[in-house]
Amino acid sequence: MRTKFIAGNWKLNPVDGQQARDLCRQLKARLAPFSKTMIAVCPPFVGLGMVNEAFRDTNIAVGAQNLYWEETGAFTGEISAPMIKSAGCTYVIIGHSERRQYFGETNETVRLRTQAALKADLLPIVCVGETLNERESGVLKEVVSEQIREGLRGFSEAEISKVVVAYEPVWAIGTGKTASPAQAQEMHQYIRELLAEVFSQSIADKMLILYGGSVKPENATDLLSQADIDGALVGGASLKADSFAGIVSSAEELI
Ligand code: 13P
Repeated sequence: MRTKFIAGNWKLNPVDGQQARDLCRQLKARLAPFSKTMIAVCPPFVGLGMVNEAFRDTNIAVGAQNLYWEETGAFTGEISAPMIKSAGCTYVIIGHSERRQYFGETNETVRLRTQAALKADLLPIVCVGETLNERESGVLKEVVSEQIREGLRGFSEAEISKVVVAYEPVWAIGTGKTASPAQAQEMHQYIRELLAEVFSQSIADKMLILYGGSVKPENATDLLSQADIDGALVGGASLKADSFAGIVSSAEELI
C-alpha cells in the first residue's frame, strides 16, 4: 500500500516572523504523535531557514513553493534549486495554479523547474488541475493530460519515481468548494492511468497523487479514503496547527 502524505502550502502567509515561529512551535507539538504519515510544510522563501531549524529532529519535512531553473547568475529576484536544498529543504512545489494564473507558469517552465529540482536532489510536488470553465466545457481530462504529458516530458523512470503529483482543481482552491470524493477519485484514477501510459504501470502504482482544494479536517477522511488519493496539499487549513493536525490525524488513521 502507498503511504499518505500531507503537505501544507502556506502561500503568501504569514507576514510576520513571530507568527511563523508561533505556528512552527504549535505544529511541532500537535504533530508529534503522528509517526506514519509523511508530513511537509512549505513556507515562503524567507522562512525556509527558520522553519527548517524549527523542525530539525522531527519527522516534519520542509519544502519551497517555487524555484528558478538556473543555478546561479544574473537573475535578480530568483531562487535556485541548490539554494533551496542548502536551506535544508526536501521538497519544492512546482506549477501551482496560482503561479500558472498570475505569474506566467507554463507546462514547459514546469518541466524546466522539475528538471532543476531533481538535479539538486529535491523532490518536486508538481501541481495540475483544471479551471471551472475547463471542467464545465468538458475538457478537464485533456487539460490535465497536457499538463502531465508536457510538464513531465522526458524524465526517466528513476527521475519520475521521485515526483509527487498534486491534483488541484482551480475552482476548489480557497473557495470552500471541495471536489466531491467521487469527483476527486475519478481524476486521480485518470492521472494514475496516464502516468502508467506515459511511464510504466509499476511506476504509476507507486507514485503519490495528492488532492488539493479546500481540504479541511471535516472532509479529509472522505477524500483520503479514496483508492487513488494518497494525501493532500493543504492551503488555508495548514495555517492553523489544529486544523492541519486534524487532517494529518485523518491520514494516520487510514494507514
Ligand atoms: P486551499 O486549501 O486554501 O483551498 O488551497 C489549496 C491549495 O492551493 C494548496 O496548494
